[in-house]
Amino acid sequence: MRRFLGWMVLAGLILAGPAASWVLAQAKPAVPIKGEERFKKMDFGKTKEGVAVDEYTLTNGKMTAKVITYGAILRELIVPDRSGKPGDVVLGFDTLEGYLAGHPYFGATTGRVANRIAKGKFTLDGVDYKLAVNNGPNSLHGGLKGFDKVVWKAENVSGSKGAAVKLSYVSKDGEEGYPGNLTVSVTYTVTPENELKIDYTATTDKATPVNLTNHSYFNLAGGGSILGHELMLDSELYTPVDADLIPTGGVDSVSGTPLDFTRSTPIGARLGELKGEPKGYDHNFVLRGAPGVLKPAATVRDSASGRVLEMFTTEPAVQLYTANFLDGKLKGKGGVVYQPHQAFCLEAQHYPDSVHHDQFPSTILRPGSTYTQTTIYKFSAK
Ligand code: BGC
Repeated sequence: MRRFLGWMVLAGLILAGPAASWVLAQAKPAVPIKGEERFKKMDFGKTKEGVAVDEYTLTNGKMTAKVITYGAILRELIVPDRSGKPGDVVLGFDTLEGYLAGHPYFGATTGRVANRIAKGKFTLDGVDYKLAVNNGPNSLHGGLKGFDKVVWKAENVSGSKGAAVKLSYVSKDGEEGYPGNLTVSVTYTVTPENELKIDYTATTDKATPVNLTNHSYFNLAGGGSILGHELMLDSELYTPVDADLIPTGGVDSVSGTPLDFTRSTPIGARLGELKGEPKGYDHNFVLRGAPGVLKPAATVRDSASGRVLEMFTTEPAVQLYTANFLDGKLKGKGGVVYQPHQAFCLEAQHYPDSVHHDQFPSTILRPGSTYTQTTIYKFSAK
């Protein structure tokens, strides 16, 4: 009888496959993971120009991130729920073709300047610059071919702080209209504390605006709408915008508005009170605390899965975007058709259109200085 039970358990394990072994892995006492097991490189296809793209898998044994060299995109993020069941908490595609066909920055590293620059032009040190325009009259997330559409070089920089990949890219003087050769790096680390840590650096040989962020579309339930997720933002202020989402230049209080997330509130609770169409959040929130210092930015909870996301950043602000422009036409991972409000983005950033507003924290990087940015997305389940 005992032997029969043993065979039944073995057969069950083989049939249930990877899910069961993952659950078992959760149940096992922590075993140190060897270097080669927590970092893996795989071929992820070729761009239309024939450039090879790789995918890097980073894991701490509980949480796993997959990052591709095209767009320095976070393609997959597997996080356990409260019962230890793993689930992918970011939107994206199964293949490179999905990304090449065009998408609204799923998981991408956006730059040289994330968010909008009004009319796609600015003046710096007395020189006028004209940028590639890709969002009505404005430039959005770096222009027509931003950092989300180039192939980055990758390097294994795993160490005692976790499994890590460093992606580098040199953006040429004049690329998308921006001045200066800009050398950029973004390092993704999966730490033993269940954090996805993203560190950026950039240096230039001519003064240029720089604003880098990660544009992941999170869904802590692994699917469906995020309007029931509860959000707390460490922000009492936001930058009001015009109809094209360009800041008016002011900084207003969130108090008494549907933008007040100082207390944890379901994301969808006050959607109807928001102005503009399609309905949803697409706002820049000014964070408490000093820019340049790592500080709490947001906490999001999904009561169904128990997953909790805590965000920390050195940036002065965060764009909350609730995937308002997803229109039920894009087919993502596993053939799932992405619907409006199927995800939320928390994009750490300098204020949009800072080049036109001297009262906003400056986005100008000058030769001899190094741009740095750190953002942490930390996961737990309760
Ligand atoms: C912007 C949205 C835009 C989205 C996808 C967000 O950062 O604020 O307006 O639609 O990115 O491009």
